Amino acid sequence: MNNKIDGNTPITDRKPIMLKVATKKVDGDTFATLFFDYALAFRPGQFIMVWIPGIDEKPYTISYHSQNRFAITIEAKGIFSQKAITLDRGDLVGIRGPFGNGFDILLDGHAAVVAGGCGMAPLASLVEQLPQSTSFIHGARSKEFILYPERFKTERQFCTNDGSFGEKGLVTDLLEKEIESKKQIDMVYTCGPEIMMAAVFKLCEENHIPCQVSLERYMRCGFGVCGACVCGSEIVCKDGPVFGSKSIRNMKDFNAKALLKSGKDADLSTYFSWRCQ
Ligand SMILES: Cc1cc2nc3c(=O)[nH]c(=O)nc-3n(C[C@H](O)[C@H](O)[C@H](O)COP(=O)(O)OP(=O)(O)OC[C@H]3O[C@@H](n4cnc5c(N)ncnc54)[C@H](O)[C@@H]3O)c2cc1C
Ligand code: FES
Repeated sequence: MNNKIDGNTPITDRKPIMLKVATKKVDGDTFATLFFDYALAFRPGQFIMVWIPGIDEKPYTISYHSQNRFAITIEAKGIFSQKAITLDRGDLVGIRGPFGNGFDILLDGHAAVVAGGCGMAPLASLVEQLPQSTSFIHGARSKEFILYPERFKTERQFCTNDGSFGEKGLVTDLLEKEIESKKQIDMVYTCGPEIMMAAVFKLCEENHIPCQVSLERYMRCGFGVCGACVCGSEIVCKDGPVFGSKSIRNMKDFNAKALLKSGKDADLSTYFSWRCQ
């Protein structure tokens, strides 16, 4: 099974191929972006499995993409990600993928993109493919957690919990204002902590706006065979990670439950999400 999209080069999904880090960009103390010179088949919202020999293999979203280059952005958290941000030019990592469905890109109409914290990474390439008139909202805990502060041509509205950058408040406050001021929003794309995406989804439902939500669950295989990432009846790595309004409405574990690394069913509040800690 290969994920060949748009005629680009697919990477196998069972066996990693080894790629050298071409360039590294460091943002503050916590974020690093690793670039690879490789023509990767890709749709915004898809992810790859990244293997550091002798350490582990973990899922990372593709945060930059061009014809011959792609990148992943890592926030330093535990053992794997702290090792990953120390990788540099010439270091080898194993890559499998890309996996998942990605976002459906709105071809006609006005879209809004709502990012929370590192949920900016899966949305970044999407923003670059949407028109510059797209409504673009990004919230974070505080100024130092704003990812890609100078990357986009599309104008971005910021908010932070502590008011250190942009407005003090929540992304839903800004989205509500945007819905009131715009004649029509035809699609909302969101990625961030699940509690934030649930609030965005509720606002969309109240205003009859279709929404695409990018979910996160614990992943091992990346292509739908191990069952580690199930959310209700959906397999997040294969059926998602992007789900539309219809699926979210029927997903009983959305903003409620997740499987832990052990496979144990747990309340979502006990699942440690990379997007919000
Ligand atoms: C589809 C998807 C895309 C992701 N994209 C990014 C990204 O662009 N940038 C980024 O920094 N992180 C991303 N992550 C999270 C990343 O896979 C790691 O979980 C994170 O870097 C922390 O790993 P760690 O081992 O260093 O920390 P740990 O302390 O070992 O883990 C911290 C927490 O991360 C989560 N986690 C750990 N391993 C996995 C795993 N195999 N699958 C899913 N969640 C796991 C668990 O909730 C765990 O409690 C993504 C996760 C998913 C599911
Ligand atoms: S990670 Fe194995 S089924 Fe999704």
